Amino acid sequence: MSAFIVAEAVEAYAAAHTTAPAPFLQALADETRATLDSPQMLTGEIEGRFLEFLVFLAQPRIVLEIGTYSGYSALSMAQALPAGGRIVTCELDPERVAFAERHIAAAGFGDRIEVRQGPAGETIAGLDGPFDLVFIDADKPGYLGYYEAVLPKLSARGLIVVDNVLWSGRVAEPESDEDTDSTRALREFNDHVAADERVVCVMLSVRDGVTLVRRA
Ligand SMILES: C[S@@+](CC[C@H](N)C(=O)[O-])C[C@H]1O[C@@H](n2cnc3c(N)ncnc32)[C@H](O)[C@@H]1O
Repeated sequence: MSAFIVAEAVEAYAAAHTTAPAPFLQALADETRATLDSPQMLTGEIEGRFLEFLVFLAQPRIVLEIGTYSGYSALSMAQALPAGGRIVTCELDPERVAFAERHIAAAGFGDRIEVRQGPAGETIAGLDGPFDLVFIDADKPGYLGYYEAVLPKLSARGLIVVDNVLWSGRVAEPESDEDTDSTRALREFNDHVAADERVVCVMLSVRDGVTLVRRA
């Protein structure tokens, strides 16, 4: 397990005291680690369960996910969808789309999760909303654009959930020549949201940092 922010032993303790993922999620995670590159991108058992809780509480009818990867977060959220609820999830990489679609079908959620292949910005532009819950978890330099594109389409009680906002803690370190485009983009994004008077937000140190945003 990759800890990101919290000490590895503490993260493992938290995972051990979190309801275990469904067998289909465990199978997806195992195959992701065995066959796909960048398995650290999996939201994993704690954040997956956290997302499932948010969906359980908010009961969104339309969920937009930006960044599918192998489908772990989409399937985690799908477990708690209300009757008639749907998830549209955006992914650039066709191999990852095929992997996710195979696991979504095997888990019996093919009727509730639609994977849209292509640049997320184009997919969002083609969707009217309103979105009841948006999970932003794709390319970090794209976060600000995704946020600005979805905020006007957020329902009155809608929620935006943003992953990796602490970026292994690098966003909180002094600026340096070692900073990557992602680190710079996340600092700018976090400052933008915190100063945005249209919204209320809370940044949580869950896994790699998760910010929750709602309309003010
Ligand atoms: C961090 S992973 C998503 C992890 C996923 N939410 C999970 O729970 O396992 C980010 C994904 O966003 C995809 N991505 C990157 N840029 C994108 C873009 N412009 N449009 C759509 N997807 C993109 C990547 O291919 C990658 O699979």
